[in-house]
Amino acid sequence: MTSADPTTAAPGSAASDTPPRQGFGIDVGGSGIKGGIVDLDTGQLIGDRVKLPTPRPATPSAVAKTIAAVVNEFGWSGPLGVTYPGVVTHGIVRTAANVDKSWIGTNARDIISSELNEQVVVLNDADAAGLAEARYGAGKDTTGVVVLLTFGTGIGSAVIHNGVLMPNTEFGHLEVGGKEAEHRAASSVRDRRGWSYEKWAKQVTKVLVVIENAMCPELFIAGGGIRRNADKWVPLLKNRTPVVAATLENSAGIVGAAMAATRDGTH
Ligand code: BGC
Repeated sequence: MTSADPTTAAPGSAASDTPPRQGFGIDVGGSGIKGGIVDLDTGQLIGDRVKLPTPRPATPSAVAKTIAAVVNEFGWSGPLGVTYPGVVTHGIVRTAANVDKSWIGTNARDIISSELNEQVVVLNDADAAGLAEARYGAGKDTTGVVVLLTFGTGIGSAVIHNGVLMPNTEFGHLEVGGKEAEHRAASSVRDRRGWSYEKWAKQVTKVLVVIENAMCPELFIAGGGIRRNADKWVPLLKNRTPVVAATLENSAGIVGAAMAATRDGTH
């Protein structure tokens, strides 16, 4: 199997007399590139995370160099997982909705790997957050299909079924009432238009209804910065599937990337 696609969560748990399984994750965001060592038994970061500013322009080679700088701060050697805010299949970037278009068609896995001489798995940013939230966070007690949505500049999505990720869903680009979901209900839309939570929640509801009509998830997990104010807007939603806020704070991307990188060593 050729697979850079993290289609499963990290399996199993370590026996009590073995040291914690560790992984390394990097979360590439619009303003910062964050990384850290992850205890894969608990989903907690081991020590602090390091954040460096995202280079401008955020071209593949500039980002790869910043990733290497973050990794080297830890002296980490071993596989690492890296998030990317678009579709990635087998390490190759397919879309760039809100990032530098020069990423499209590049082999991000090889570009990053050659800076560090380590194995790299590149996965979608929301997929990483979804893996982490489903295993250690807001979805840990839910069996069946869990859908995580990140509300930020765009809308990212992750579908996880009993811990197994179905990668590269792009619900942010679904057409909802004649408009792309992320143009309707990303939190950037609310900021730009100065909308109240009531007004924005109506748009979010429309997006959630389209998704739940198509796939009947057990649970929606809401991620992105706006999750911090979940008590102000989640109760306003009118869709039928329960919605809860993500709980891993801003480490979910790092944790999910580390999970993807260490999956059974099959990548
Ligand atoms: C991209 C997704 C990404 C999301 C959040 C969307 O525009 O298409 O792949 O997960 O933004 O960054």
